[in-house]
Amino acid sequence: MTNPNRDALIARLPKAELHLHIEGSLEPEMLFALAERNGVAIPFASVEAVRAAYSFSNLQDFLDIYYQGMSVLLREQDFYDLTWAYLERAGADNVRHVEIFFDPQGHTDRGVAFETVLSGIERALYDGEARLGISFRLIMCFLRHLSEAEAEATLNQALPHLNRIHGVGLDSSELGHPPAKFARVFARARGLGLHVTAHAGEEGPPAYVHEAIHDLHVERIDHGNRALEDPDLVHHLARDQMTLTVCPLSNLRLCVIREIADSPVKRMLDLGLKVTINSDDPAYFGGYVGANFRAVADALDLSAKEIVTLARNSFTGSFLTAEEQAPHLAAIAEAAR
Ligand code: ADE
Ligand code: ZN
Repeated sequence: MTNPNRDALIARLPKAELHLHIEGSLEPEMLFALAERNGVAIPFASVEAVRAAYSFSNLQDFLDIYYQGMSVLLREQDFYDLTWAYLERAGADNVRHVEIFFDPQGHTDRGVAFETVLSGIERALYDGEARLGISFRLIMCFLRHLSEAEAEATLNQALPHLNRIHGVGLDSSELGHPPAKFARVFARARGLGLHVTAHAGEEGPPAYVHEAIHDLHVERIDHGNRALEDPDLVHHLARDQMTLTVCPLSNLRLCVIREIADSPVKRMLDLGLKVTINSDDPAYFGGYVGANFRAVADALDLSAKEIVTLARNSFTGSFLTAEEQAPHLAAIAEAAR
């Protein structure tokens, strides 16, 4: 049930977002505006028709539309506008730090230069830091439906820009593409000093979460829902305080859960897992971080203490140093009093 005190607490708590695909923040209005600006044809007659098409039965249904949506992103300014719009929305939810994913292969395969993508996103991130006070890290994802050789080529493209990229991730179609397929390229990324994270256990089995940990040596698991099916894995995740970046509205819209009340967030908290709340692809799934917090808090009747834990986890699970986390944790304590 909606609770005004709980919503006010969610609004005033400083938060970090750790699982956000910047291309998934492309709102239908911007899709249309960029299609017109760049002369790109899109198969929709109106913003309403786009929204009506956002009805998915599974991850692949969504990904087909997500990759199609990216076709309007061509110039540096497009990536800037996309990222800036996300930062303004995140700032309105009191998000103080973001660790955002981008999918270079979704752009370079269409002939858009790696540098164009990186520069546009990065310029907005620096503006966000200066004007909105939102710090950032940038994570380059490999598309797991493509080959490891293609991921290697993408890492090669990133080599001249390694001081601008903080980590690598693994996303796209999960089933049939286990983490171990990318063990070598992840080892190379780690050797280059990059942070590592991977989507696992969204649709894929608990074995994929196990592989992400043992074969890719990830620092976080993106989603991780299906880890709950394996008690040994749960024990390991709790013992090591592995951060899980759960995305409640995404789970609902991609039919990972039937209703928000089935979200694993409360069960994960009860099991002592380090769970965080994130928006994944907010333009497609109906809400940014604040909406995700409110949805689970209402449906699972989360206590103020649990909500504060989720906000704390978002910073302690980030790639910020303990020193960088400290002022945010102090601000959370202040907001929680
Ligand atoms: N790419 C964008 N969103 C994704 C998701 N939820 N799972 C896998 N790949 C994605
Ligand atoms: Zn994701």
